Amino acid sequence: MSQNASISIRNLYKIFGTHPLKALDHVRAGMGKSELMSEHRHVLGLRDINVDMRAGEITVIMGLSGSGKSTLIRHVNRLIEPTAGEILVNGENILVFGEARLRELRRTQMSMVFQHFALLPHETVLDNAGMARSVRGEDRSAYEKDALNWLERVGLGNQGGQYPHQLSGGMQQRVGIARALTSNAPIMLMDEAFSALDPLIRTDMQDLLLELQQELQKTIVFISHDLDEALKLADHLVILKDGIVVQQGEPQEILLSPNDPYIVDFISDINRARVLRVRSIMDVAPDHTPQTAGTVDADATLESVIALSEGDTTLSYEVHRNGAPVGYLNMQKLVRALVPTQAAKNGMRNSTRSPSD
Ligand SMILES: Nc1ncnc2c1ncn2[C@@H]1O[C@H](COP(=O)(O)OP(=O)(O)O)[C@@H](O)[C@H]1O
Ligand SMILES: [Mg+2]
Repeated sequence: MSQNASISIRNLYKIFGTHPLKALDHVRAGMGKSELMSEHRHVLGLRDINVDMRAGEITVIMGLSGSGKSTLIRHVNRLIEPTAGEILVNGENILVFGEARLRELRRTQMSMVFQHFALLPHETVLDNAGMARSVRGEDRSAYEKDALNWLERVGLGNQGGQYPHQLSGGMQQRVGIARALTSNAPIMLMDEAFSALDPLIRTDMQDLLLELQQELQKTIVFISHDLDEALKLADHLVILKDGIVVQQGEPQEILLSPNDPYIVDFISDINRARVLRVRSIMDVAPDHTPQTAGTVDADATLESVIALSEGDTTLSYEVHRNGAPVGYLNMQKLVRALVPTQAAKNGMRNSTRSPSD
């Protein structure tokens, strides 16, 4: 069984309507979503999407409602067929797969966690957790041990005999996660999986996912319209707007160098000190070695360094990773990184792409 799977989306277009290929010509010639709708009555779902989702990483697709997030994730298991482009899983173009291979791919390589849990109401929690395996034709005796193990890991060790309606929303989504893990598939597709949960429970679920991911290193495609959630979970962040990728990259990099006014807007309210890490703003090779007031960890938040410095902006620190020095942090640079307009300006200046690219 492959426990590693990469996904590559190449030049993907999706147009909804009666003559998508004809509409595609207009889109390729540069027509945008609103014009395509008003002049040709077709919906531009996705335009020229290129995203590499690396094995073992969490790729978060973020954007406002209607930006194309669900359309994109549904291409990964071919619940939606593209108008043009390729979808590669482990280097293989899944668009050429026939029925049997596609079914095999969906059953063994991918699991889904849904916003509204999608549990079977008349099955126990244990059987819900084992659902993918029983669909594969396995007896309960074959999946029971795994299912109980994952239920235990998501904090539902004693709930296997319950029915979904006896559980709270947060607990039901824990079953959803246990079900995905019991399936043993290397890819997890999560479309707004935590969006229906109350804020505190949602935070718990994010922590649980990160904790499990440390150990499991699944290839996770996670959809969210919430920036805090996206920044917390993403190894790779993809920002969609009107069916177009406006920016993608390491989340810290996007925060420091947003390349589009839409993203500047999105990130303007974020608590930067809490999200930005020392590694993102440290000097790896400063002109001269500063005098340092101590050491800080590369993964420490800027907030924790401000507390450590007691607000003294004249200080510098040596930055360590795994106990070894990797750079220097200057407090003045730290303070500058906290000002979003400044960072945004730098980003817009450094960017070689215009928003309409
Ligand atoms: N089956 C469909 N037919 C027509 N338009 C659709 C269909 N599915 C999605 N769309 C349109 O495609 C765009 C992207 O939708 P969606 O992927 O659901 O966005 P999101 O998940 O980001 O909210 C929207 O404008 C939506 O109205
Ligand atoms: Mg959606």
